Amino acid sequence: MHGIIFKSLKDFVVTNHGHETWDEIRHEADLEQRVYLPIDTYDDGELVGLVEAATDLTEASIPDLLESFGRFAAGNLLDTYGNVVGDDWDALDLVANAETGIHTVLRAHNPDLDPPELVCRRDGDARITVYYRSPRRLCFVAKGIVLGVADHYGEQLTVTEATCMHDGDDQCELVVRR
Ligand code: HEM
Repeated sequence: MHGIIFKSLKDFVVTNHGHETWDEIRHEADLEQRVYLPIDTYDDGELVGLVEAATDLTEASIPDLLESFGRFAAGNLLDTYGNVVGDDWDALDLVANAETGIHTVLRAHNPDLDPPELVCRRDGDARITVYYRSPRRLCFVAKGIVLGVADHYGEQLTVTEATCMHDGDDQCELVVRR
């Protein structure tokens, strides 16, 4: 996974719990010496280890931690890759374009990037259904990213999960409403 995700996890932990907690998390995950650079990619297993250690130390549940992390990470993604975001988009436009206008473009420009394949379907003016399927099964992060995108635009969106891979479904269905 892209270093920007790891760097965002570090920033998220340091902002909310301080540097010492980040050091403890790396220690718990046997990654004391690890430095995450936003220009590199790292093994997905390292993220799993860090998230497990973070939930142990902060007593947050994995879904809550991943959602809050995704919400935080959206700001970093938009700061880094804002050039692929349309000038005239609002939050719902961005969600609608997350696959065709953003993830697809990023994959084409950088073969090292491996964002999940999303299907984003507009259901009228105020609703989008996002179908998420990824072996990483990070739908809680996806939900958080949508909420973080709304924060970025100073808007309010709600996300409900109609189906979930963690419940045995073959994809997660996120219903996003304004
Ligand atoms: C708003 C809707 C969006 C959703 C639901 C979404 C979902 C996700 C999720 C869940 C991941 C984690 C990897 C995985 O699950 O396989 C991810 C990775 C990523 N996303 Fe998105 N994303 C969205 C928007 C964006 C935006 C706005 C950007 C950039 C401007 C972006 C760029 C990336 C990048 C760079 C990665 C890392 C890929 C890698 O590790 O190689 N995404 N996205």
